[in-house]
Amino acid sequence: MNVEIPEKEIREKLSLFGQDHILKYLEIISPDEQKALLKDVSEIDFEQLLARYQSYLRTLTAPPEKKVFDAADILAPPFSTSVYSRGEDYLRRGSVGIFLVAGGQGTRLGVKGPKGCYPVSPVRQKSLFQLFAESIRALQRRYETRFSWYIMTSRENHEDTCGFFRRNNFFGLSSDQIRFIVQREIPSLDRDGKLILSPEKLVFKNPDGHGGSIRALRESGALEDMRQKGIEEIFYFQVDNPLAKIADPLFIGAHVEHHAEMSTKVVKKTDPSEKVGIIGKINGRLGCIEYSELTPEEIQGRKADGTLRFSSANSAIHLIRRSFVETLTSTNNFSLPYHSALKDIECLTEKEGLLVPDIVKGLKFEMFIFDALGFTKNSVAMEVSREEEFSPVKNRAGVDSPETAQHAMINLYTRWLKESGKISQIPAGLIMEVSPLYALDAAEFREKFNPPSSLSSPLYLGP
Ligand code: UD1
Repeated sequence: MNVEIPEKEIREKLSLFGQDHILKYLEIISPDEQKALLKDVSEIDFEQLLARYQSYLRTLTAPPEKKVFDAADILAPPFSTSVYSRGEDYLRRGSVGIFLVAGGQGTRLGVKGPKGCYPVSPVRQKSLFQLFAESIRALQRRYETRFSWYIMTSRENHEDTCGFFRRNNFFGLSSDQIRFIVQREIPSLDRDGKLILSPEKLVFKNPDGHGGSIRALRESGALEDMRQKGIEEIFYFQVDNPLAKIADPLFIGAHVEHHAEMSTKVVKKTDPSEKVGIIGKINGRLGCIEYSELTPEEIQGRKADGTLRFSSANSAIHLIRRSFVETLTSTNNFSLPYHSALKDIECLTEKEGLLVPDIVKGLKFEMFIFDALGFTKNSVAMEVSREEEFSPVKNRAGVDSPETAQHAMINLYTRWLKESGKISQIPAGLIMEVSPLYALDAAEFREKFNPPSSLSSPLYLGP
């Protein structure tokens, strides 16, 4: 359908909202480019755009809002076996959907393309996506069920992500149990509140943050799909953590026993300088305190026993009740709060009547999933072992890099080996990998492992 663009109206709106520079660009570009740019502009909600910019301006002029931070109540082991069984029941009857947020590129990692394609495992160099797919297959086998896997991509990596799955035959899953949903993008602005022209001569936009997943679930129809399939709880995780224990029954059990709408796994923060969010209370309400919000005294603060005062690091693994997302998104234009960050943006600007490549400091606006915690009545923050469940791949080298994640994986598998009690001596520096299809945990490993006559690197256990 060829919808006519109300050009006059759009031009007036641009003027009204102080975006006359776009009118100037329209004079320079070709008729086809004009059409595309006008269509792009016609989709902008200028009132919201202005509201976001004004809220950024307030952060510059108003003194920062005084927030009172407190530690949150944290659930920690031991847990009764009934909690685990309850979670297993949910899995067996197909009440849990799996939701991976995988928008954006692996720029910080120094790779082009989706982060999930990064070859991360220590022996077979399996990608993050493959490791997750194998875990899901192993869970299906264990619980004799079929999972629906929802993967959020962003415009820039959507095609590459889908292509990667297709080329790899969906890593042994069926293509119809994986649903890719694309998050929305919103216009970035320069520091004066002006729209930015992208190198493609369109409005420059950035993905709306992982918090955009809440509305993407609704807009894509995924939420309705979940309802039809009887999915009650959504297991949410980020693409950068190869150790994420997908659909952990203990977590599910604790979450449902506490009638929680949204829950979070936390790991102990021991190094004050670690750049993680802290699950805590903000003015008495549960939330995630970003490291940039804490003063150096708060970051370093310790309790009488010597442990950090703010020590519950957000692993970004959540359980979210489907009906909670339905309620949140039941009103039109639902949005979590926007956070703005100034970033270098490659763009086009006008110089002497020509459009030339440029780099400007621009404002990118994003929503964060953990802000949904503030809307809950009940929520669980459950502490889990960092060694077993958290080793994100964020940087090319140093902390939170592929190297640290591989070490974490090798350490975990060698611990399983040791705990199996079937090996008297593990060779120093053994490099090993265990496919989730071989064992999902230490107990399954102990049951299956048949020691070879000698152990040497690289050791791979799996199909
Ligand atoms: C995040 C959390 C931090 C937490 C840490 C754990 C924020 C602001 N902080 O940090 O509290 O301790 O993870 O590792 O998020 N994504 C999208 N679309 C987007 C933006 C991001 O899908 O528009 C996905 C990415 O693919 C990635 C995840 O969200 O899987 C995390 O985003 P990232 O910006 O890397 O978060 P961090 O700053 O590392």
